[in-house]
Amino acid sequence: MPTFQTVRGMRDLLAEDAEMLNFVISKARETAKLYGYREVITPVIEPYELLSAKSGEEIRSRMFTFKDLGNRTVALRPEFTASIARLATTALKNEPKPLRTLSVGSVYRYDEPQRGRYREFYQSDFEIIGTSNPEADAEIILLTDRLMRAVGLRNYAFKLGHVGVIRGILSQENVDEKAQNAILQRMDKKEFDEAFKLVESEECLKTLRGSLELKSDDVFETVERIQSHVEGYSKAASSAEDLKKILKLVTEGECPVATVEPAFARGLEYYTGMIFEVYIPELDIALGGGGRYDKLIEVFGGEPTPATGVAHGLDRIALAMQMQKTAPSTKPEKRVVVVPVKEELRGEALRIAQKLREAGIPTEFEVMGRKMAKALEDADRRKVDYAIIVGERELKQGAVMVRNLAKREQILVEIAKLAEKVQS
Ligand code: HAM
Repeated sequence: MPTFQTVRGMRDLLAEDAEMLNFVISKARETAKLYGYREVITPVIEPYELLSAKSGEEIRSRMFTFKDLGNRTVALRPEFTASIARLATTALKNEPKPLRTLSVGSVYRYDEPQRGRYREFYQSDFEIIGTSNPEADAEIILLTDRLMRAVGLRNYAFKLGHVGVIRGILSQENVDEKAQNAILQRMDKKEFDEAFKLVESEECLKTLRGSLELKSDDVFETVERIQSHVEGYSKAASSAEDLKKILKLVTEGECPVATVEPAFARGLEYYTGMIFEVYIPELDIALGGGGRYDKLIEVFGGEPTPATGVAHGLDRIALAMQMQKTAPSTKPEKRVVVVPVKEELRGEALRIAQKLREAGIPTEFEVMGRKMAKALEDADRRKVDYAIIVGERELKQGAVMVRNLAKREQILVEIAKLAEKVQS
């Protein structure tokens, strides 16, 4: 048999990386709690039709799709939003609005593997369902800001846009939704010439090209320029007004918006309103992104229900923390190893180990059957703080020997006071 490697694009997260990821997950859960989002757990495998319905050409072509043994065409989820929209039309249909959900877990896309881009990666996904008010969009951005701060990132900044502006221009020029999607997909990849080739009307082309020139260093000025640029397009104009309201709320919430991009588009097709991404200067890939999708739930057969949300790329946040040398702020716990002096004392030593664990102390047991000197050497190498040496003579006094491995000192401690002593 050859030795096995992981499948290309799949990774093993060894202890340190797993700890880092779990730290970011704990901060996402903490953020959800603070903002009133309740976690739901949905399946990794969903019907292909559900996942592909409104995800767009780009995601669709990268899905892990297969037939299960029941001949159903299914896929590994490339994101959470479709699953939550499914829930909003079924089990959560009658929940009071707004409905706020959190999902955490792995998602799958056949992307080209490179730094920060994997085929299996982790997201925390927040959705708020049942309102089209700008407060909801602002909340999604502000909770992302909170997560970035909670993991200790610095100098991160948000990029904001609104697909309603481009869609508004295109629909007034009678460009159908399919063509709009094709244009936005190309704009997402910054292939503006390719995108604009799909536009027939000269007037429309002029407006679209002009929109690329509107960016200013001042975000409010950019929005005002967008507003006057699309004056004749009523839907685009009201989208620009919506963007302005969201920007105002977010700025009042003291969140760092670096740019408003008039020609910003995102890969997913279901967006109808505000869209955004968050970046740090050290990485040119987004740490998270989201936006408003007011039509998805009705596409899935539900009542027309506005919604907005975000997904955070947890692996990329962990990577960003490494790049900014931001260590997780958890206080190190004392670790102990319990070593019986001889085989006959194993049972007694195990009982002591159990007691320590009950008291919340991370406790390992010498399971390799090593002699004392070897066991202590090993514990020292693995940076364990204390060895609890269980010997016959000490047991007779209801005590054990506690050895501080770093200081190479040991003292006799009563078993009844052991946990307390280790913790202090
Ligand atoms: P998305 O922009 O496709 O949005 O993904 C969100 C985040 O996932 C990205 O910003 C990035 O950090 C991370 N990500 C994407 N692809 C990869 C990859 N190949 N490797 C590592 N990380 C990656 C969504 O998924 C939408 N569902 C967000 C949303 C929720 N919109 C509304 N509600």
